[in-house]
Formats: sequence, C-alpha cells, structure tokens
Amino acid sequence: MSELKKIYNPNREFAANARIKNMCEYKDLVEHATEDYEGFWDTYASSKIEWMKPYSKVLDESKAPFSSWFIGGKLNVSTQCIDRHLDKRKNKAAIIFEGDRGDKQIITYLELSYNVNRFANLLKNKFNVKKGDRVIIYMPMIPEAAYAMLACARIGAIHSIVFGGFSAEALRDRIQDAEAKVVITADGAFRKTKPYMLKPAVDQALQAETTVEKVLVVERNGEDVEWVAGRDYSYNELIVDESSKCEAEMMDSEDPLFLLYTSGSTGKPKGVQHNSAGYILWAQMTMEWVFDVKENDTYWCTADVGWITGHTYIVYGPLAMGATTVMFEGVPTYPDAGRAWRMVEEYKINQFYTAPTAIRVLHKMGENEPAKYDLSSLKVLGTVGEPIDPPAWKWYYEDVGNSKCSIVDTYWQTETGGHVVSPLPGATPIKAGCATLPLPGIMAEILDPKTGEKVGAGESGYMCITKPWPAMIRGVWGDPDRYVKSYFGDVKKDGKAVYFTGDGANYDEDGYITITGRTDDVINVSGHRMGTAEVEAAIKSHAKVAEVAVVGRPHELKGEGIFAYIVMKGEDNLAEEIELIKEINTNIKQEIGNIAICDDMVFVPGLPKTRSGKIMRRILRSIAKGEEITQDISTLEDPSVVSAIEKCIKG
Ligand code: WTA
Repeated sequence: MSELKKIYNPNREFAANARIKNMCEYKDLVEHATEDYEGFWDTYASSKIEWMKPYSKVLDESKAPFSSWFIGGKLNVSTQCIDRHLDKRKNKAAIIFEGDRGDKQIITYLELSYNVNRFANLLKNKFNVKKGDRVIIYMPMIPEAAYAMLACARIGAIHSIVFGGFSAEALRDRIQDAEAKVVITADGAFRKTKPYMLKPAVDQALQAETTVEKVLVVERNGEDVEWVAGRDYSYNELIVDESSKCEAEMMDSEDPLFLLYTSGSTGKPKGVQHNSAGYILWAQMTMEWVFDVKENDTYWCTADVGWITGHTYIVYGPLAMGATTVMFEGVPTYPDAGRAWRMVEEYKINQFYTAPTAIRVLHKMGENEPAKYDLSSLKVLGTVGEPIDPPAWKWYYEDVGNSKCSIVDTYWQTETGGHVVSPLPGATPIKAGCATLPLPGIMAEILDPKTGEKVGAGESGYMCITKPWPAMIRGVWGDPDRYVKSYFGDVKKDGKAVYFTGDGANYDEDGYITITGRTDDVINVSGHRMGTAEVEAAIKSHAKVAEVAVVGRPHELKGEGIFAYIVMKGEDNLAEEIELIKEINTNIKQEIGNIAICDDMVFVPGLPKTRSGKIMRRILRSIAKGEEITQDISTLEDPSVVSAIEKCIKG
C-alpha cells in the first residue's frame, strides 16, 4: 500500500481518555452543529467562557459577510486566561520559559496574574493607554511578550505583534497602519547565545511620522541602546512601582482583541482583526480537542508569538484552558540537533507542536537524535503552517513519536483564528500528509470555484468555509472593502459568497482533506506567508531594476523557496550581477527582513507577458520548478522570451 493511503490508528489507550474518544463521538458533534448551528455554539460559549454579562443572541448574520457572535455578552480575555484559574491552579506553572542560553523560569498562574496586572497598570497609569488604543509589540520570545499581550487585553487595548525578524521599515508600515500609541519592545535578545538587537529598529521606524507617543523597553540582553528622552521608558524601572491589582475592563464580545498583519496576494500586508469572545472560545476549544491537554500535562509549541500560531497556541489557547505552556527563545537545532528532544525529556513534554520546516531540518541534521532521549512522555505531535511531506511525517511519527503518538496535521490560517481542519488525537485514524477532517462546528468544504458545488474524490477545488464561525477574522483594519474582496470574492455557494481560504485542496476516497497549497500569489516559506507583491516591491526599489516577477518553487527544507526573475535597466553585465544580488538582498532585508531573502535570482532579458501586459506567472513557476512548459505560449506578446529565460537559467 502506498504510504499516502496507509491508515494509522495510534494510541488507542490514550483515546479512551480523550475529550473526543472516537469517530462516533466526532460524528455526533458534527451532526449537532449541522442540525442546530447556533445551539451547538451556545453549548460551548455558555460553559467555557466566564461571562461578566451573558449574551442575548448567538449569531447575527444580518450584515454578512460581517458577522457578530454572542451579542451583548461582556467578558475580559485576560480574566479568562488568568483570574478564573486562581482558585484551583494558582501555584500551577502557567509558563515554563527556556531562554536561548539555557536560562529557565517557571511562572505560576499567581505570578502571571501579578506580572500582567502590574504591566496593565503601567500602560494605563504611565502611558495613558485606554480601551481601543493600539499597542505594537515588537519583542523576542520572552515571558514579558505574553505579559504585554495579556496586559493589553486586560485594559481593552488592541495589541498588534510584529515578528522580531521584520525590518524597521516593515515595523514602521504596521505602526502607521494601526495608528499605534505605544510600542513595547526589548533592547534585544539572544540567538545561538549571541546578542541581537530590536530597539534600534524601533528607533529607525519612529524616525517617520507616526502616532506613537511612548516606547517601553524591556531589558533582555543588557546591550547599550539609544534613548530618546520623554519617549523611551525602561520597563524594568517603571514596573516596580505598579500595583498588582488592575481591574479588568469589561469588554463586549465583539470588541477587538488584536490585529495581526499578514501577507495577501496584492498590496501591503493587511491587519487581520480578531475580536474577544469568539476568538478566545475557539482558542480554548481547539486546545482541548486537538491537543487534548490534561491537567498535569506540559505542552510546547515552538512557534514565535509574532505569528498567529504563537498567539493562539502559545499564549491564549493554553492559558484559557489553564494549561502549562512552554515558551522557548532559542533555536531547536542549537547547540545541536538534539536540543528540542532534550527539552522534551527534561520538561516531560506531552504535546509538541511545530512546523514541517522544523521537522525537516531536525530530521536532516539529526536523524538519530530522538533515540538518544527519553521521549516517552509524548502523546500528541502537531504540525502546522504548510503541507507536510510524507517522509518528514513518517520520521516524526516513527522516530519522534515511537509510532504511538497521534500526529495532528492542523490546517488553519491567521484569519481563521484557530484550527479548522485537523485530526482529533486518538479518535481520527490518520494518514501521512493529510489534515483529515473539518473540526466540529467548522463548515469547511472543498468547492468548485465555477459552480460552487462540492468537488468529488480526487478532484481539486478551493478550500472554503461556508458558514461564519466564532473565531473568524472580523475585518481588515481600516479597510472593510478589502476584507470583502479578499475573502468573499471568489466562490459562491447557492448564490451566497462564502469564505475562501486561498488554498487549493482535494478529498480522497474517505473524504479526507489534503491541502495542496495556495492558489494565489502567496508563497509559503518555512511556514511563513510571503506576498510576492511585497518581495517584488523590495526588489524594484533598487535603481537598476527595471522589472521583476517573484514566484515560489519547491525547496527541500523550507517547503517553498523564493525565486526572482529580474530584468535590469541597461546592458547585461555579469560582473555587475554579483554586486547587484548583494545590493538587492540588502534592500529586501531593509524593507521586509531576512525571511524574504531570495533563494534564486536570475537576470533575464524580459518577462513573459500577455498582449494586455499581464505577467504569466504560471510559466515562470514551471520554469522555476524545472518543468517542461506545457502552457500555450502563443498568446504571449513575445513568445521567444520563454526560451531566452530558460537559456539564462541553464547558463
Ligand atoms: C498554510 C498559519 C497545509 C496554508 C497557521 C494557509 C497549511 C497558510 C497548513 C496560513 C497545513 C497552514 N497543511 N498548509 N496543516 N497549515 N497552512 O496565516 O496555505 O501564517 O493558507 O497561518 O499556511 O498561514 P498563516
């Protein structure tokens, strides 16, 4: 039997204890949601959230595709994550932190409460941050990043985390788009034991005109940083004066909780807005269902808080359910490829969640490392961010999980807030490289974009979600039209516009879903979304570049690599090209960050364009993959350009 079709049924013993134990229970939940959608969500919203004031209605679709959930309900997300656990779990570890250099901290729920309340008071009293104000968080992976998020939630401020790998210019764009009042950052942090810096990027970003009034700087690596008097303040100095009691702001179900900027196929990154109740409900429910974390378990997700996975599955989800979450500043392959497995052994990790890229790197660099450690605590292994290839899946399953752990291949997006398609550990029979089935309550379907009908087994279609769900994106910050156009413009089912994820997918003969990748101009590099338009803009900013087109191509470790076709102004000159590549890479680093550096750059005489001037990216994708060109090129303005490009690549 081919590896792809083989069905694994690991962990029966564990399943007996799981929250959803078997496929019958799964089907019952799906049926409940299908027959009584609002009743289904009401069951969970009423029991999982500690409401300050109950809601009067579950779902309001009258302004679709803008939907509202749990109408009139009041709550505070920080009390969901902290205060309500203090009765039963005040001395339980909320966060276990391991720093890059091996330094450790264990923060109990009581300590978390103490730190978050003081942080909230600082923002409120010293920086005058009020409900609805935007706060940018540009931080390393240290506990203060989680305190900052929860402190914002406590006072009703809207946080927007910018991944620390983004450049000053990318940071500035986000600060300006969000019209932020405050930036929270750190001097820097450590990577592979060496200090690196963050504060200088903030200084540079704030040279532009912005609405930022104050910058709060957490000390992490102790390196010297510039200080702007009256704007910059030291967290470590100010925090000591603050009281550990800060009343939680009463927030409406639909008050915004955070913005997170993510790449789309066109234009600048968009500020994906998530609101309070629906988001925190689904973050908790999926934590419970998909990872099945038990009271004494230790859960570790290796993401960075700068991405949605870090938001939902390092901070909000685990803390909402009262779990112990591990936060790791370092690199899983440093000082050697056993670092991650050593941590699993040391902390007796029960659920481990990472990206296929990390699995491929760990596999390549340390195929036999897992065997050197006691990994018997592991029960569930998760993957996220990109399709996982069967060889990586198999190594993860057999060598890391000892053929006993369920692999949960979780498919979701920044916009979905939490998982939407995933196996349930122990219950769902699994297949390599397959996200399996929609979670109960999520009406995910693969549709034919032309007819809006569900596709048959083996046919490809568009991954859609046909009903609103509580954790869905509420809007694109400052641009309601873009929300409608980006997500509800492509597919109609029964005449109604439905949410389209941007991904292609197919069903197998068991109805299992395999995600095949983006259908738009978004590249998935190491599980990070990159818009080709953004990378093209950065390359075009070089004075010698006349035209550019960027596409993705398969990459052994990163999933996809970035491939740029560049047309230079003036004469082609080999000696100059090497310099040019360096300079263009510098531009990319400045405008976006290291994560957008191109894997390939080729200088070509022209780009394949239609007579109306549209670049035929499909052809460029095929060439980048080294495929035979099967597309009809006769409609091109200049068909000879294709062979000229191929010649450049071979050369
Ligand atoms: C891709 C990350 C295949 C997909 C949580 C999606 C996946 C994009 C999977 C979202 C998976 C995520 N299998 N592809 N299990 N999970 N993707 O917003 O293309 O950073 O649209 O959210 O990652 O990336 P984002």
